[in-house]
Amino acid sequence: MDQHGTKLLTVDKNVENIDENRNIMLAAEQLLEGEVVAFPTETVYGLGGNALCNKAIHKIFQAKGRPSDNPLIVHIGERSQLVKYVDNIPNYATKLMDAFWPGPLTIVLTHKGNLSKGVTANLPTVAIRMPDHPIALALIRVSGIPLAAPSANTSGKPSPTKAEHVYEDLYGRIPVIVDGGPTGVGVESTVVDCTGEVPVILRPGGVTKEEMEEVVGKIEVDPALMMESAATPKSPGMKYTHYAPTAPLILVDGSERFFNEIVKEAMASGKRVGMLIFEENKGRFSPVKKEVIMGSKEDLSSVAYALYDSLRSFEEKEVDVIFSQVIPEKGLGTAIMNRLRKAAGGNIVSEA
Ligand code: TXA
Ligand code: MG
Repeated sequence: MDQHGTKLLTVDKNVENIDENRNIMLAAEQLLEGEVVAFPTETVYGLGGNALCNKAIHKIFQAKGRPSDNPLIVHIGERSQLVKYVDNIPNYATKLMDAFWPGPLTIVLTHKGNLSKGVTANLPTVAIRMPDHPIALALIRVSGIPLAAPSANTSGKPSPTKAEHVYEDLYGRIPVIVDGGPTGVGVESTVVDCTGEVPVILRPGGVTKEEMEEVVGKIEVDPALMMESAATPKSPGMKYTHYAPTAPLILVDGSERFFNEIVKEAMASGKRVGMLIFEENKGRFSPVKKEVIMGSKEDLSSVAYALYDSLRSFEEKEVDVIFSQVIPEKGLGTAIMNRLRKAAGGNIVSEA
């Protein structure tokens, strides 16, 4: 990379013969040289590096400012790559992969010890997924390497769903961003521990618990994900504050009337208020100008899609506090509320 710059390489994700695309080849070359490259997946943008190369993995942690005890997800392009790196694949894990790969599901299995140590943060297990995005898959194919990739944000910030978000966070810190337009799902993959008798959800995400139950029956949830749990999460990343905008975010659980009262109270005390609300409630609250719509309550995929961009949009709006509406924690609502709770640092006010 030139000392200061970060190159933006634009790729149309629907282009024919994507493996021969010049920008894909340039990005793959960088990866083969041990560099890091940001690229789109179907969930969020990832910051990829060769999962077999210590130097590349070190650069990922450095660029993000990520704590070294938080392991990375390895992205593969074909099922045959899986057995090179992991052992003891239970039947239910095969069923889950059959049903949801390529897609937003990450499987945690015991590794064979041949990946870069940094990837697994010295754990006996590794997290692996096959992304459902033509650009991510092309980079894996053309480079011929498994790509370790965390979300391409600065640690603690909302994950990037557009190349611009990566640019804001990592400009000058990485050589290349492949711009393939906005990502689709908008929240990260579901992380499932597959080392025990039954699958255990460590991080809710794009594939819902309900969808997985249809395929494998019983599924458990890491107790640390439950509200107000004091348990230490089994997914190391879940213990850090995350996804947070700059102004404090407070979740408001209650009626429209309650929401209005909370907003008015804050305004009366001289605060500049921002609101994160649903399409259905547009214009219905106290006349606060800084209102950001995070999709429709009736279509949770539209909320997941807009969530991180909405949180980031408050960086440009000068507000002292942000109030957000909430949704029931089922289906995709579980992942959305998990991210909102984290962004709010657990700050929630409920109507009695
Ligand atoms: O959708 C996604 O998963 C995106 C895209 C880029 O693929 N990636 C992503 O990576 O969200 P990251 O690093 O931001 O989150 C990975 C999560 C963290 O919570 C981490 O602690 C957990 O997966 N994880 C990784 N390896 C693990 C392991 N061996 N055991 C338990 N949790 C693990
Ligand atoms: Mg992340």
